[in-house]
Amino acid sequence: MTRQLSRADRLIHQFDTVLRTLVPHAAQPSRPSPATDIVDEPMNEAEREHAVGLMRINHTGEVCAQALYQGQGLTAKLADMREQMEQAAQEEIDHLAWCDARLQELHGHTSVLNPVFYAASFGLGAVAGAVGDRVSLGFVAATEEQVGKHLDDHLRQMPAGDRRSRKILEQMREDEAHHERWALEAGGARFPLPVKLGMRLMSKVMTKSVYRI
Ligand SMILES: [Fe+2]
Ligand SMILES: [Fe+2]
Repeated sequence: MTRQLSRADRLIHQFDTVLRTLVPHAAQPSRPSPATDIVDEPMNEAEREHAVGLMRINHTGEVCAQALYQGQGLTAKLADMREQMEQAAQEEIDHLAWCDARLQELHGHTSVLNPVFYAASFGLGAVAGAVGDRVSLGFVAATEEQVGKHLDDHLRQMPAGDRRSRKILEQMREDEAHHERWALEAGGARFPLPVKLGMRLMSKVMTKSVYRI
């Protein structure tokens, strides 16, 4: 039996998701981490620190993904694809929780800048959703494309000994490619190059700062 959600229900749900996204270790994955049963090779201190920096970037990327989906959810119509969108958002929660747990294993912490990037992505998602479904889905596709490039780069850079992080990134890579395909097939606009360049610049600012703090 389904029930129409009231405005208050929605607000409470939104607030709950914000907390689950921003409070460390609060997100609950629906799938076990791909790193389960994977054993690392020895790593030196510099390698561990590099792995922490990379996983912190990936974690913040997933915070942004959550915010983007939530911002869009608030304004977009997307009537036929709400279910798919919610499934994608759930997969992003898995990614968020896996990266968070891995950071803990590596004795690292999540970024102190997460609330800032959360707010910015939420705003962008809400604006895209308000403009229209084609733009909204196009934004998902362009974001996933960008995230995929990051993940490829991180898979190249990840210290060879860090087999657990690598396994997580590989599964994320697969999921993000799926999200991108879905958004394009559902009618997402392909963004022109200048917009993509703007997004790339923003992600540069994010990765440079979050690698350290
Ligand atoms: Fe993700
Ligand atoms: Fe994704």
